[in-house]
Amino acid sequence: MTLQIKSIDQYHEVYKKSVTDPEGFWAEQAETFTWRKKWDKVLEWEFDSPSVKWFLGGKLNITENCLDRHLETRGDQTAIIWEPNDPSEAVKTYTYKQLHKEVCRFANVLKKNGVQKGDRICFYLPMIPEMAIAVLACARIGAIHSVVFAGFSASALADRINDASCKMVLCSDGNYRGAKTVPVKAVVDEACKSTPSVETVLMYKRTETKVEWVEGRDKVWQDELEGVSDVCEAEEMDSEDTLFILYTSGSTGKPKGVQHSCGGYMVYTTFTFKNVFQYNEGDIYWCTADVGWITGHSYIVYGPLSAGATTIMSEGIPTYPDYGRFWQICDKHKVNIFYTAPTAIRALMAQGLQFVEPYSLSTLKVLGTVGEPINEEAWRWYKKHIGKDKCPIVDTWWQTETGGIMISSLAGVTPEKPTFATLPMPGIQPVLLNAEGTEIEGNDVEGFLCVKFPWPSMIRTTWGDHERCRSVYFNRFKGKYFTGDGCRRDENGMYRIIGRVDDVIIVSGHNLGTAEVENGINSHPNVVESAVVGFPHQIKGNAIYAYVIMDGVVEDEAKTRQEILEVVSKEVGPIAKPEKIQFVPGLPKTRSGKIMRRILRKIAAGEKDNFGDISTLLNPEIVEAVKEGALG
Ligand code: WTA
Repeated sequence: MTLQIKSIDQYHEVYKKSVTDPEGFWAEQAETFTWRKKWDKVLEWEFDSPSVKWFLGGKLNITENCLDRHLETRGDQTAIIWEPNDPSEAVKTYTYKQLHKEVCRFANVLKKNGVQKGDRICFYLPMIPEMAIAVLACARIGAIHSVVFAGFSASALADRINDASCKMVLCSDGNYRGAKTVPVKAVVDEACKSTPSVETVLMYKRTETKVEWVEGRDKVWQDELEGVSDVCEAEEMDSEDTLFILYTSGSTGKPKGVQHSCGGYMVYTTFTFKNVFQYNEGDIYWCTADVGWITGHSYIVYGPLSAGATTIMSEGIPTYPDYGRFWQICDKHKVNIFYTAPTAIRALMAQGLQFVEPYSLSTLKVLGTVGEPINEEAWRWYKKHIGKDKCPIVDTWWQTETGGIMISSLAGVTPEKPTFATLPMPGIQPVLLNAEGTEIEGNDVEGFLCVKFPWPSMIRTTWGDHERCRSVYFNRFKGKYFTGDGCRRDENGMYRIIGRVDDVIIVSGHNLGTAEVENGINSHPNVVESAVVGFPHQIKGNAIYAYVIMDGVVEDEAKTRQEILEVVSKEVGPIAKPEKIQFVPGLPKTRSGKIMRRILRKIAAGEKDNFGDISTLLNPEIVEAVKEGALG
């Protein structure tokens, strides 16, 4: 059984061992899993190329750990509870036995459609149980899943399909989101106009929305399942074989395909799941994320199932049929552990307590947050009104690239502190560096957050472009993994994440690259140039402020703004729509032509002065003009 730390003293003891003898520590953890063949060597690494390998020579299949190994001990226990968008629709549940069977069946569907080990399969699916089943089915046969959040636009989807040369796309006809039915297949059809690698589109009928059909390419998921065997031997995978790719935004317009491998990812997500949430036998656990993001991969599917948990998947949105939906689901399924994003907490907090009061929330034991810094007000509201002042809150800091939770308290075991992620997980060695790359020692300090030693679930490479992985994460500070976040360590050694220090803006917990959004805006035919920055937003945490230079005079600002919002939606997706669009005559630039975002950020935040030395700018006069037109 995976180690579960039960006291603060034990945490310190385990942490110490994990950094003095990381290989011994992780080998002990890995021993608790099912391997076809044990590893020959625990770790090989260097952070220059970089090259990181865990459990070398080990053979396994992660689904044997998520499914098969539970069949004898907990075969009839519920593995997944699925809560539909519409509260009056029936809930679906899958025991471990049933889930195992469904995964095997779908794995056979993939095989019969020619999918082989190493093939890339793109997912563009709503939160239906089939999404988890299909993820596991890929893993079972060694196909690499690349899940794209089903809110991305056709062009963003096409970029991701092409980058990984996906052979198949899994989608649905439509997606129920609140009172709306959103087309899904239509987006895939549009994307697939420019994706030569796609041979098959497998569509799950969810909404019975009318769709177009490409004969020979398109197939109905339910039809494909007919008569398929429910036996499917798992493929033997090497510990370092790729399990999945997940795209995340970067500082160029092109998204990065973060690549994770089988062995280390399994060990680390399971270990952190059991320890951070203090998951115990029989607990009902609900993470509200979408499987389209890393949180859904690690803490809805792989971590919980490998730990033998009961995990809830919910299809809908927190505001439908009303703002009490989360709390209603907590009561309905007697949720013990609840994990969500600060942006959702803030949105629900803003609606007042009348949506919380009808529910008892009495089964809750542990609350969690992820994705962005949580402000103190939201933290206190969550603690008091949802946790009734009896549930510990784990503020979990991590990234798509880290695969699992890196800094967080262990619920009820190690101390919590509002707005602080607190302490590193066993095996994680965070460091703060100054701009010169010198390690800042001691406490009560602030710097760039880096990690100086590998951990099992860390990024291995960026798909098809290892140099990008090196230059983004391992180049800025030699010999360290750079997170892109600024961080403070308080007088007691607790970590508080301050926010991004690069060109990524986190809007409602979603990472967006400034370049990606700017490319979207620039696709409007009359836009000459644009620059986007984040600015503080009460609910979203950050929102996007766009400065746009138009070709000629803007006659109708409202209309042009609307057009820009539409092109951004189309090019990137609705989540990337700017909150504010200011038309400007020019953008402040350095002599080398680089946009001075620092100044734009200040103006967007409503600052009137303190712009520092602007005399080095190519066009200092523009600052005044931009300031004058600033939108309050
Ligand atoms: C931010 C999400 C503060 C951070 C799992 C990080 C957080 C980025 C927290 C990764 C937190 C995530 N407190 N900031 N608890 N969790 N972040 O890849 O800036 O979608 O670098 O992974 O989100 O976002 P990603």
